[in-house]
Amino acid sequence: MGEVLAGGLLRAGWDPSEISLAARREERRREVETATGISTSLDPAEAAAGRRIVVVAVKPGDVPRLLEQIVGSISADQVLISLAAGVSTAVYEASLGEVPVVRAMPNTPAQIDAGVTALAGGAFVDDDAMGLASEVLGAVGETIVLAEQLMDAVTAVSGTGPAYVFILAEAMVEAAIREGLPWHAAEKLVEQTIRGAGMLLAQTDLTPARLRAQVTSPGGTTAAAIHVLEERGFRALVEDAVRAAAQRSRELGERASSTSG
Ligand SMILES: NC(=O)c1ccc[n+]([C@@H]2O[C@H](COP(=O)([O-])OP(=O)(O)OC[C@H]3O[C@@H](n4cnc5c(N)ncnc54)[C@H](OP(=O)(O)O)[C@@H]3O)[C@@H](O)[C@H]2O)c1
Repeated sequence: MGEVLAGGLLRAGWDPSEISLAARREERRREVETATGISTSLDPAEAAAGRRIVVVAVKPGDVPRLLEQIVGSISADQVLISLAAGVSTAVYEASLGEVPVVRAMPNTPAQIDAGVTALAGGAFVDDDAMGLASEVLGAVGETIVLAEQLMDAVTAVSGTGPAYVFILAEAMVEAAIREGLPWHAAEKLVEQTIRGAGMLLAQTDLTPARLRAQVTSPGGTTAAAIHVLEERGFRALVEDAVRAAAQRSRELGERASSTSG
């Protein structure tokens, strides 16, 4: 996700000299430097030195080790943006002191600048700091500012959300092939259906329920399909999946809090 964000900033017109990256393995460091043209270090404190914005894009379990590496080198006039799922701003503040920390949850469509990122400010974040964080994440899609206690829910909805759409796409392609469509046609029909439905949802003021009603004529084919989905508990399944993801986000955050500081 760090590399995706760096790529988005370059596409948004940032100069490579305005960015530094850190990796923890020499092989990865070289790979990232070659792919992005951005100077890369094995020392996160060195990469963060003198930068107005510092983005932490390691796995939640790696946050405590990273904090050990950067403690004492992040100051109150920098803004730290954490992408780590479940890790609260308080975890960073407990190690780094009165530093503005913005917790951010992007998603993988960021790869094509079509992501959505929720942002939540910690105790020392002012409008300027939040503005900078919104600008950085805005390079890879839309942003929305929310209260921090909602971030586990955000993780479960939009952070994890692309996977729900992809598993639906997989299932639709398999079903299409079973109905006799050639593979390439099944893929094209499913891809464009999901793209078109998403665009329709985003570009009209109609609710998902209203748009679904538009496709559903009484006694028709969509009604038959929706009946099966409802009868087999599709909605409850989605709700349970989202709840499981939110719970996992909380657990990951608790683990990071208990192993840091
Ligand atoms: N992927 C998503 O859809 C998504 C969405 C929203 C948020 N996030 C969050 O973004 C974070 C990164 O996820 P990801 O999928 O991009 O993980 P990833 O592919 O594992 O990338 C993390 C990178 O950080 C490196 N790293 C770990 N500790 C380090 C340290 N101390 N110093 C320098 N580099 C270090 C890792 O090195 P190695 O190569 O040696 O492992 C790895 O290259 C996670 O916290 C995740 O919760 C991800």
